[in-house]
Amino acid sequence: MKLTDIGRTPLIELASLSINGGRCFSKCEFLNPSGSHKDRTYLSIINGLEKIGAIQPGMTLVDSSTGNGGAALAWIGRLKGYKIKIFMPEGMTQERKVQIRSLGAEIIETPKEGFLSGAVLAARRYQAEQLNEQVFFLDQSNNLLNKAAWADCGEEIVEALRHQHVVPDFFVCSIGTGGAFSGIAEVLKCEYREIRTVAIEVNKSAPLYSERNNLTFEHRPHNLMGLGGGVLSTNTVSALVDEVRVVDGNEAWVRMKQFIEHERVPVGPTCGANLLVCEEVALTHQKKNIVTVFFDSSWKYASRWDGFYPEYGGVDDAT
Ligand SMILES: Cc1ncc(COP(=O)(O)O)c(C=O)c1O
Repeated sequence: MKLTDIGRTPLIELASLSINGGRCFSKCEFLNPSGSHKDRTYLSIINGLEKIGAIQPGMTLVDSSTGNGGAALAWIGRLKGYKIKIFMPEGMTQERKVQIRSLGAEIIETPKEGFLSGAVLAARRYQAEQLNEQVFFLDQSNNLLNKAAWADCGEEIVEALRHQHVVPDFFVCSIGTGGAFSGIAEVLKCEYREIRTVAIEVNKSAPLYSERNNLTFEHRPHNLMGLGGGVLSTNTVSALVDEVRVVDGNEAWVRMKQFIEHERVPVGPTCGANLLVCEEVALTHQKKNIVTVFFDSSWKYASRWDGFYPEYGGVDDAT
């Protein structure tokens, strides 16, 4: 696999969600080389920082991640000649850890109590403690080279839809850092003035939903890794979000499993969240075309296939 294999993923039509006279499409980002959409994110961050001379091969790059970002950074970093350290909250799946380590990166596990924000703080502290300038904290949450990564993906979607003479009415996508959502939404809003964007958060950690509904934000443990990190990141551009909906983690896991069984497309749990909301939209609107994203693959969750993360609460309070 080469860096030029990143991107140009297929946009597939989801037959079971093409209902009520509309059509539903998903961008298969899980087909990127390291198995998730984060390949685009880190290629953009590293290339962008190299271009301005902020980093160069031989340096150590650090970031926080629940696993997909870590794998993408480990793979791209190794190909480009960097040492990689990933700060990761305790309890992430074994598959993700094995993948990151097999790509030569080091994992520093951080206490479960701080979840992803704790990992971010630990990565920042690590960089601050280094006495030389050979360590760089990439900060995927706040580095806008993350969002910039997604312009190409947005253009690919526009091109694929144009080819099929389809005009999308809705863009539906979960947010973690919000990089994928904001970058794609920006391109789609520019191309299709009438499109409505729907951002999804997990109900137990929903800062944007809380802000819009005058609720006090509280982060509670959940089982949709990649979403609900505990803070609203700079890459989530609120002006690009027309509507925010929340999903229940357990329901997303169930929807993912149903989808895999019926459609034989091996997607991960946050894709289940996207499917739930696409379905809500399709059922409540006539003749509307919807676009969503499939972030990663089910193989990354094999060791936690019941959707239960013991580090983050009991079965009933894990969502
Ligand atoms: C499985 C999964 N789904 C969704 C997301 C959200 O992507 P983004 O950070 O671009 O918002 C992530 C981010 O880590 C993820 O790992």
